[in-house]
Amino acid sequence: MTIRYLMCAPDFYDVDYVINPWMEGNIHRSNQTKAKEQWQALYDILKELASIDLVDPQPGLPDMVFTANAGLVLGNKVVVSRFFHRERQGEEPHFKAWFQSQGFETFELPQDLPFEGAGDALLDREGRWLWAGYGFRSELDSHPLIAQWLDIEVLSLHLVDSRFYHLDTCFCPLTGGYLLYYPEAFDTYSNRLIEMRVPSSKRIAISEPDAVNFACNAVNVGQTIILNKASDSLKQRLGAVGFTVIETPLTEFLKAGGAAKCLTLRITEPIAPAPQEVSHVESTVIQMQGHLLDTGLINRALDLVVDAGGSFQVLEFKLGVQKQSTSEAKIRVSAPDGEILKTILNQLIEIGAILPRETDRDAQLVAVEQAGVAPDDFYVTTIYPTEVRVKGEWIRATRQRMDACVVVDPAAKTAVCKLIRDLQVGDLVVVGVEGIRTAHRPEVREKSSKEFSFMGSGVSSERRVELVVEQIAWELRQIRDRGGKTVVTAGPVVVHTGGAPHLAYLIREGFVHALLGGNAIAVHDMEQAIMGTSLGVDLQRGVSVSGGHRHHLKVINLIRRYGGIKQAVEAGILTSGIMYECIKNNVPFSLAGSIRDDGPLPDTEMDLIKAQKHYSELIQGADLILMLSSMLHSIGVGNMTPAGVKLVCVDINPAVVTKLADRGSIESVGVVTDVGLFLSLLVQQLQKLGSAVFNV
Ligand SMILES: NC(=O)c1ccc[n+]([C@@H]2O[C@H](COP(=O)([O-])OP(=O)(O)OC[C@H]3O[C@@H](n4cnc5c(N)ncnc54)[C@H](O)[C@@H]3O)[C@@H](O)[C@H]2O)c1
Repeated sequence: MTIRYLMCAPDFYDVDYVINPWMEGNIHRSNQTKAKEQWQALYDILKELASIDLVDPQPGLPDMVFTANAGLVLGNKVVVSRFFHRERQGEEPHFKAWFQSQGFETFELPQDLPFEGAGDALLDREGRWLWAGYGFRSELDSHPLIAQWLDIEVLSLHLVDSRFYHLDTCFCPLTGGYLLYYPEAFDTYSNRLIEMRVPSSKRIAISEPDAVNFACNAVNVGQTIILNKASDSLKQRLGAVGFTVIETPLTEFLKAGGAAKCLTLRITEPIAPAPQEVSHVESTVIQMQGHLLDTGLINRALDLVVDAGGSFQVLEFKLGVQKQSTSEAKIRVSAPDGEILKTILNQLIEIGAILPRETDRDAQLVAVEQAGVAPDDFYVTTIYPTEVRVKGEWIRATRQRMDACVVVDPAAKTAVCKLIRDLQVGDLVVVGVEGIRTAHRPEVREKSSKEFSFMGSGVSSERRVELVVEQIAWELRQIRDRGGKTVVTAGPVVVHTGGAPHLAYLIREGFVHALLGGNAIAVHDMEQAIMGTSLGVDLQRGVSVSGGHRHHLKVINLIRRYGGIKQAVEAGILTSGIMYECIKNNVPFSLAGSIRDDGPLPDTEMDLIKAQKHYSELIQGADLILMLSSMLHSIGVGNMTPAGVKLVCVDINPAVVTKLADRGSIESVGVVTDVGLFLSLLVQQLQKLGSAVFNV
């Protein structure tokens, strides 16, 4: 059968607008005469290899010259393009009329479903499947329709570099199952898919210099490849596998983001012997509710879909008209396959999306078969309150924390967050994404939270530290006075920076209801209380004490002799400091061991599982957790704390503070400052508040 191509003479070609990065700066910069010569040269080369049909160019439609975007042809069928940009939509009726005049059966996508023809859909040259691009011009949701109409398997590829906005700018299937392509133009998933379908011996991956010369935008007829320009090494590689490369300069068209392939459309595409309709694309509709615009939640959701390789269509958006009212969105989310869709949905659920009621199903439960091992595909919890649907009823999970499983007891109608290691045989664990929803607190808009949060804003000015200290002091007092709970997690830097007496004050005055730390905070606090030094340094005078580097070991030894901190206090050995105040005021503490611990103290729990358990018991019911200069313990505590608990993280290193902010919790406050200074300001402020009340 004669191979036929469709071309369109460049009579009206020019760069009249900007709809891709190549056009930028090139408006009306293409040379008409040169463009015509280049087009003619391509025509002449191709004419030797195939027969060429022409469609009439139209004034005002400069890009009609790129016939690859007219539609997608397979056999006698054509899916006519729906252009993404208004500037090109005028081409649609002309191409459609031409296809109809040639007796093609035409298929048309809905108005709002863009698909740009053979620019974004390329047949494997053995006819086994269709590669289809999405991400810039064509919509992923067009792929299942194409699969159905053309009765062919469609493999969806996600384009991620805007310079390569159409699949044919970076991807060119060749005779014999070879593939010329630029891997960097695709996301990881797409690259994996390509590697699974095309053996490495047949993949000809090109580098950026060839890619920007549009080497992939090539016309392949048999063993001939016609393209704008290719490096010598690329020509050699193609030559080595039996291809002859013909270069023909198309620089005038590159100014509009097109070259050889864009200027042609192959209209004789034979149908493979055993075609099959398959599209791996899966989609679902989700709902979101809340302050979607002003909290940026909707942007986060949509970005998340695209970043994970999916695409979306906003089906409905009801804007809350007043400051207090919430907005609602219904979004169709599509992904190139079911696995990716599940990953996306998981992340969307994390930020509060729910599957709409009409498609609500009960959560899927799978029994644990091996103690301490979750079923595959188990749902991983976040810090946000989680509800699971069991027998049509939504049940709130208790002991909310992140990185856990949800175990359901359908008879008792209970759900609880459990760590993997705590799972028992027979526990019913929630798997998949159905029947799960998380709740985000709406009070994000509270003014105080804005003033309070300057997490991630880098180093805070002193005035800002003072402001935030005022707020925290107020909160601490409120919590204490209403019988609430404040937990402190602290590292030894508290002691080194002179903060120990201040923390001791907070404990003594009833502002602290549990203390979490490691071996070091206790050792260094007691070193200071007993020997007057911290790591051998006299904090009063700021000088090292001779032999002081052994002080902390002597203290450890002393406490070990008495059997523990409590015993040392009772024996009158320990008479001041953080640990002393904890014992005296019955404030529970937990010291979690680590590999760098000296001693350890008898009170330090070296079994980390037990230590984690003790930590999590102590943070139950906390209103506020003050995290003082311990990356290890602060992050550990952050991971087991549900949303709704205010976290105040004080650290000199902004990265530690930001890490805690990554929880995405609105209640988090970061204070980038010296912890000793912070504690001293906090105590001053509390004392000021105390006397203010006294004066009334
Ligand atoms: N002798 C010992 O037994 C001993 C000694 C040291 C640490 N440890 C143990 O090692 C583990 C980790 O110790 P860690 O929590 O101290 O270390 P860490 O590295 O987890 O955290 C220390 C944090 O303090 C911050 N920091 C430093 N100077 C600061 C300042 N002036 N103001 C505010 N923040 C400041 C750092 O940026 C860091 O994030 C703990 O379990 C601890 O008990 C044991």
